[in-house]
Amino acid sequence: MKTELQIAADKLIREMFKVQPGETVLLTGDEESDTAVLKAVSDSAKEVGALPMIMTIPTPRGVGKAADPDLPIEPMTAAFSVCDVWIEFNHQWLLYSTPFERAAAVNKKLRYMCLVDFTEELLIRTVGHVETEKLQVFMRKVTEMTKNAKVMRVTTPAGCDVSFEIEPTHYVACDCGDASFPAMHMMTGQINVVPRFGTVNGTIVFDGSVTPPFGTTPDVPIKLTVKDGVIQSVEGGRDAAIYDKWLRDFDDPGMLKMAHIAYGFNPGAKLTGNIVEDERVWGATEWGIGYVSEIDAPPCGQDAKSHSDGICLNSSVWLDGVQIMDEGKVIDPVLVELMP
Ligand SMILES: [Fe+2]
Repeated sequence: MKTELQIAADKLIREMFKVQPGETVLLTGDEESDTAVLKAVSDSAKEVGALPMIMTIPTPRGVGKAADPDLPIEPMTAAFSVCDVWIEFNHQWLLYSTPFERAAAVNKKLRYMCLVDFTEELLIRTVGHVETEKLQVFMRKVTEMTKNAKVMRVTTPAGCDVSFEIEPTHYVACDCGDASFPAMHMMTGQINVVPRFGTVNGTIVFDGSVTPPFGTTPDVPIKLTVKDGVIQSVEGGRDAAIYDKWLRDFDDPGMLKMAHIAYGFNPGAKLTGNIVEDERVWGATEWGIGYVSEIDAPPCGQDAKSHSDGICLNSSVWLDGVQIMDEGKVIDPVLVELMP
């Protein structure tokens, strides 16, 4: 009898990555990583005839490039540059570190996934309990409907009421757990939309976690008033005042601009304070503020010194005036049929 953890690890390797016999599968972690997760995923890769390897390091002091001083850069780069699959379970993530960027530039076959801080419980809930193929069909349909719309409106019980235009040249990213092709993949259950810059208007209320700077849900929901894509005011309680100061202290107009909105569609995700999980809570939407890459919004992206994300729970969504979701529940008849 396989454990729930092993079944979840099997899903990751077989259903999401579709790992083939003989492929090299590199699993990375640090001292904060869950060793049982690393072992289970390694065992799943071995069982399909692949060649797994676990690489762990002392926990770096920073993430991304801030981890560089603590990394064995050359050997890491060498391994990342030639493996077929790399699944990152690190606490202090290597995404955008120097070994990551060097490997991404040369390893064109690499299938990478960022599963930062994944515990046994998190893997079981957000991978093991998810019907991967059904979710993919459902999420691809939502993606298609969103890309085909001209205007999107989102409201929530906490007071969101915001509208914006869809920009056809911007990339709509659908992270639905298909890591069978070379790319930088993220945890399953998110569709990301970058609105046409300057078209976001209305009220956005964060009643879930806001990261950075908090990493937790604010004391009182934070209300942003947005005009033509730019934050005009930040209201709420003590945390809203801290957030307002945090944004303005960058002394950067880009840090007052709305960046992206994402639908959360992982049936197993719940609000825990881990932003990667929180932004995938079913029926939530997540707004990003600040930096947008030129890949997401060609040709220039949106420049800013940093980036912050906040969660709006139980979202109602309209595409060109037609409501597809009501307070977190899918109501569009076509989508209801496809729901996992
Ligand atoms: Fe974001």
